[in-house]
Amino acid sequence: MEVIVGGGIVGLTIAWRLSRAGRAVTVVDPAPGTGATHAAAGMLAPVSEVTYTEEPLLRLGLASLGRWPSFAAELAADAGLDAPAVEAGRGVDLRTDGTLDVAFGADDLAALDELAAFMAKLGLPVERLTGRECRRLEPMLAPSVRGGLLAAGDAWVDPRRVAAALLAALERRGVPLVRARVTALLREGEGGAVRGVLLDQAPGELRADGVVLAAGAWSAELADVEVRPVKGQIIRLRSPEPLLSRCVRGTVHGAYVYLVPRGDGELVVGATQEELGFDTRVTAGGLYELLRDARELVPGVTELEVADVVAGLRPGTPDNVPYIGPSGTPGLTLATGHHRGGVLLAPLTAAILLGEEPELAALCAPSRPRAGARVEALEEMG
Ligand code: GLY
Repeated sequence: MEVIVGGGIVGLTIAWRLSRAGRAVTVVDPAPGTGATHAAAGMLAPVSEVTYTEEPLLRLGLASLGRWPSFAAELAADAGLDAPAVEAGRGVDLRTDGTLDVAFGADDLAALDELAAFMAKLGLPVERLTGRECRRLEPMLAPSVRGGLLAAGDAWVDPRRVAAALLAALERRGVPLVRARVTALLREGEGGAVRGVLLDQAPGELRADGVVLAAGAWSAELADVEVRPVKGQIIRLRSPEPLLSRCVRGTVHGAYVYLVPRGDGELVVGATQEELGFDTRVTAGGLYELLRDARELVPGVTELEVADVVAGLRPGTPDNVPYIGPSGTPGLTLATGHHRGGVLLAPLTAAILLGEEPELAALCAPSRPRAGARVEALEEMG
């Protein structure tokens, strides 16, 4: 039996795929689906979120995006969501209408043009649009939006619905879910081989043939892994009529904001990026900045009702690439450090652990050259 530590979208996806492959698994989490997964907007946007020096992440993201449609369909079937339920918007709300990346100020437009040139060099399928063309696609955009990039292949999903579907699918498959906190890994012998986990409540410990660490921002508390919490605050607004038909990302004088429309009429506005340790307070300043920038791009947001505000902790790594694969310690596999891409990368993460993507596995192997050192070397090279 294998223990999966962590019931976020990554851990649940791994458990589901391993179980479907005939492996005996148990998931351990005190409150599955309530961490970063609960806060996430669910952008599946490897193209519009591409960043200089992060080509490995782009390759991983594109591969995982390609897996999402079949992943969502198989999950809906396994979770018992029939076709009419999915049609009626009770599925995982996978939307494939693309992302529009827009620029507000002259400085933002200059950065957008540079990004467009970088994307063209990478051969990415994006279309450069004028401000007017952006408003033709999204009439609620402000007249001051100066231009944009349409990444028609990007998509998004509702992570809360995905987590609920995964939990339903695991229950239907009879996969045990232990609602407890893992306090330590159970180690034995020379080299400290991992043989299970210790729990904060009964049954006290779980012995296992292997442990997969998918504990997100908390991973470094259990194993020697360079993962740190990166706080993200997010606002969910309730919109009687959809304000947007696709996901809009934008920069407002260099600050990033995104607006993600849900099938149920919600509009998710996110997200801050704060290095404050394990702080999950929702702050006035965080909300103010998000709403200030969202309003510059889509003035109508200020009319909407606030449905929810939440802060989650992304698991950051030195090079923003997750650790997926054998840890180097016998019995311990890592599936953590997904930073801003946990939702996007969940299907690929499970595929890598099942040996389906050997080439991509090398990009996120925990044994890759020390991630921080690689970023420093790239910076030195200019
Ligand atoms: N993927 C978007 C975020 O982490 O804010």
